[in-house]
Amino acid sequence: MRDITIVRLIPDSDHVDTVASWTYAEWGHLHPGATGESWREAFRRECGKGGVPSVFVAMQGNRPVGTAALMAEDMNSRRELSPWLASVFVLPEWRGWGIASALIRRVEEEAADSGFRQFYLYTPDQQGLYRRLGWQDHEELNYRGEAVTIMLRQLEA
Ligand SMILES: CC(C)(COP(=O)(O)OP(=O)(O)OC[C@H]1O[C@@H](n2cnc3c(N)ncnc32)[C@H](O)[C@@H]1OP(=O)(O)O)[C@@H](O)C(=O)NCCC(=O)NCCS
Repeated sequence: MRDITIVRLIPDSDHVDTVASWTYAEWGHLHPGATGESWREAFRRECGKGGVPSVFVAMQGNRPVGTAALMAEDMNSRRELSPWLASVFVLPEWRGWGIASALIRRVEEEAADSGFRQFYLYTPDQQGLYRRLGWQDHEELNYRGEAVTIMLRQLEA
């Protein structure tokens, strides 16, 4: 996979601003009232030391090229479900090399090691990617004006 390593993102890392800017550009519009600064600080708080919350980055040398997170909440209307795989993003020029798959596997491992037996994600259009990785369709619904699928991953003990 082109010398990619998956590492935990710590809050004082130089890469926090870069990675937060990707996720703000991709999903910021779904959060009215969020600014680049408020987003970055909320993102920094998700960079926990282990378990929930955690953020991981795919590094090519010293350069971050993708990210994925384990979060307590990701959907206001389904607060009973927790935790969530969230913020899966790979830079466009690095797509199609299995980097998202490796990030997702790392988040699954983190959730399993934290004692969870299942966790969730929602996606408008990437169901195929997650199904290939063993995720199951859980519920179809409209969320923030979009048709999305909540998916469920069973984890090994
Ligand atoms: C969705 C996204 C994260 C996928 O990232 P990625 O690193 O390209 O994902 P992967 O490489 O693991 O898998 C994607 C595809 O590459 C294929 N692939 C995996 N490893 C490969 C390899 N070594 N060589 C070629 N192709 C490969 C996979 O089969 C998959 O095929 P598909 O195009 O039919 O889906 C990326 O496109 C992205 O950031 N999109 C914008 C944000 C987004 O939609 N995030 C998901 C929110 S739910």
